[in-house]
Amino acid sequence: MAAASTSSSSNGSAAPEPQPVVEPQGMAAHFVVLGIVPGEAAEARVRAFLGGAAGLARSVARRDPEERLSMVVGIGSQAWDRLFGQPRPAGLHVFRELRGERHHAPSTPGDILLHVRAMTERMCVELTMQAMRALEGAVQPLDEVHGFRYFDARAMIGFVDGVENPDGREAREATLVGDEDPGFAGGSYVVVQKYLHDMAAWNALSTEEQERAIGRTKHDNIELADDVKPANSHVALNVVQDDEGNELAIVRGNLPFATPSRGEYGTYFIGYARDPAVTELMLTNMFIGRPPGNTDRLLDFSTAVTGSLFFVPAQAMLEALGDGNPLAGDAAPVAPVAPADRLAAGSLRGQPQSPPPRAPAEGEPGPMS
Ligand code: HEM
Repeated sequence: MAAASTSSSSNGSAAPEPQPVVEPQGMAAHFVVLGIVPGEAAEARVRAFLGGAAGLARSVARRDPEERLSMVVGIGSQAWDRLFGQPRPAGLHVFRELRGERHHAPSTPGDILLHVRAMTERMCVELTMQAMRALEGAVQPLDEVHGFRYFDARAMIGFVDGVENPDGREAREATLVGDEDPGFAGGSYVVVQKYLHDMAAWNALSTEEQERAIGRTKHDNIELADDVKPANSHVALNVVQDDEGNELAIVRGNLPFATPSRGEYGTYFIGYARDPAVTELMLTNMFIGRPPGNTDRLLDFSTAVTGSLFFVPAQAMLEALGDGNPLAGDAAPVAPVAPADRLAAGSLRGQPQSPPPRAPAEGEPGPMS
């Protein structure tokens, strides 16, 4: 196994180096969701790809460092069980669909996520192409979206997106697993959703109505004051706290996408979190409402058509996964494919969910052993 590089963690301890989760947004991104085809040969090929993914990204990135090419690789819940068995990341489960009275967030399949970012589309294409070569015959495409950075980093709906993202230390603290799940420290959880916008209906609103839907001004991008910001605005419903009143954050890497000849305009939502329950709480507020029924006004113009959750192992663990689960003892059996959703529904107050049963911890080697 490769020697693990470590970085100073937000929780004080030295944590494994993460994948490039908290990267500055480039100008282009590919969001690729893949399913692993049946058979052991496919599983072996995917494991080998995971082990070499960082090296592959590095090789392509070196061709033009100014492109700031990066790739994050995520693994879905069922894929984890199939490829690696126990132990597994505590918060990993199949994305739970949300069905409110008016809005629906579907859960759609996904074994592997590739989140490729760069300054240009050509660089994203190059790395995605190399990744697909490495995975040839082992996966089938389930969804692929090419996002672009629009003017002033605005979403297709005309508002600047990503403004309130934490950065630096706060971003790492919000996105990277720490001591709560030590074997998987330095990992992250990522939720992706493809949204399609009803641009005709959105553009029929006045600018003031649009601003009340989002909770910020459109032109100069200032948050509306609390006494004028509606409770069903997107921003109001996405400010969430834990039981002690601490604000909970995620890091979003959303980008717009469009196929103008088909009238298709959308936002690819991608949110990284240390605990997926935080993102799930935001989604519950948006789709079910806070309080229930007070749903996100943005959803009256935006339809979620996909939804998946992935675990993003720390860099050294990703590399080690090429040889199987580095946390499994020699005698640890590989678990069969688990039922779709193996975790009991966790608290939606942003608290960590209870971990599933783990393989014996005694003498269990750590990811860097
Ligand atoms: C239709 C797709 C979406 C669009 C177009 C969109 C757009 C925006 C915009 C324009 C803002 C205000 C500027 C900013 O702080 O970034 C915002 C804020 C935010 N959005 Fe979204 N968003 C979408 C989906 C989501 C989803 C699915 C979530 C969570 C699961 C989410 C979480 C947030 C959060 C946490 C904020 C910052 C709130 C604050 O602290 O002020 N967004 N979004």
